[in-house]
Amino acid sequence: MSENTQHSELSPKMLEILRKLEEKHDAVGENLEAHLEGLFYSYFVNYWDYIGIDALLNLQKPKTKYSDEMIFIIYHQISELFFKMILHEIEQIGNATDLTPDFFLKKINRINAYYDHLLNSFNLLSVGLESEQFMKFRKTLTPASGFQSIQYRLIEVWSTHFSNLLDAEDKANLSPNASVEDVYQHIYWKKGATYKKTQQKTLTLLQFEEKYSKLIIRKGKELKDKNILSCYLSLPPEAQNNPTIIEALRQFDKHANLNWPMAHYGYAIKHLQKDKEVVPSTGGTNWQQYLPPHFNKILFYPNLWSEKEKKEWGKEWIEKEILSK
Ligand code: HEM
Repeated sequence: MSENTQHSELSPKMLEILRKLEEKHDAVGENLEAHLEGLFYSYFVNYWDYIGIDALLNLQKPKTKYSDEMIFIIYHQISELFFKMILHEIEQIGNATDLTPDFFLKKINRINAYYDHLLNSFNLLSVGLESEQFMKFRKTLTPASGFQSIQYRLIEVWSTHFSNLLDAEDKANLSPNASVEDVYQHIYWKKGATYKKTQQKTLTLLQFEEKYSKLIIRKGKELKDKNILSCYLSLPPEAQNNPTIIEALRQFDKHANLNWPMAHYGYAIKHLQKDKEVVPSTGGTNWQQYLPPHFNKILFYPNLWSEKEKKEWGKEWIEKEILSK
């Protein structure tokens, strides 16, 4: 340093910051000086490392020469990231130690906003995906299917009581003492992936069960009092009856159990149903019966819907989006 260079005094603000940092480090027995010295040697943060750009852009691995397969993979990954954002909000509600109606509503509103974006982006499966290409590269994907998305299933487990993931028939036969394991045997999505005549499970389902059954059962138990329905029922009665909170939860139910499944079903029809001929899916489900929510009628918050609304679940959507076109 040249003789002329003046050392400026540390400003009061800087001293205050240093004092607070020292307090923070003292509290956990760490030496602030050593940490500060470390700053001489550490790199400055940059965008590419922080966002993980190299890893992110290396996660797309098409299996064929068809260019649209890249869009197919990326859009699945985008959807999974949105599922992650949704789970991130849900978990904050479930893990809140002092849950307030305001916090609850704020998080449900965010979840609904994420679903809005997911739904608005769905037409990328039309804009970015030519059916002709899809019909070719999809053959290399069997038996992989979005059916095996664990985040999609975890959103369900976090959102409601485990027994609400049974279809109406199984729910009616459910013993009051049924364990999470009992319920899991009949969870609605297993039916779609089981051949009716032989009761044999598809390979897609068998793979999924092998990897995730334990996790789902564990979560079903752990979340008994932490799922969104339990959290809602733990709010004071005036909050439970608050029309804004009720409407937000109904919207969440509608997004998760009608709007997304219906939009997804629409694209399955677009790409898998050619001139009335139905193409078998990669996951091998009886997808035409299984995918439309009208058939499964899973609802996270059944008590927030009237009997008529429940009976006609999905009817309006089919009339507006399918029959009128
Ligand atoms: C051209 C695009 C798509 C087609 C043709 C398609 C087709 C299907 C079919 C037929 C099923 C039933 C299971 C099977 O038999 O494989 C299914 C399930 C599923 N797919 Fe897709 N899918 C597409 C895009 C997506 C995207 C972008 C996602 C986002 C992650 C996704 C997530 C899922 C999920 C979560 C299920 C299970 C739904 C449930 O159990 O109700 N799919 N898909």
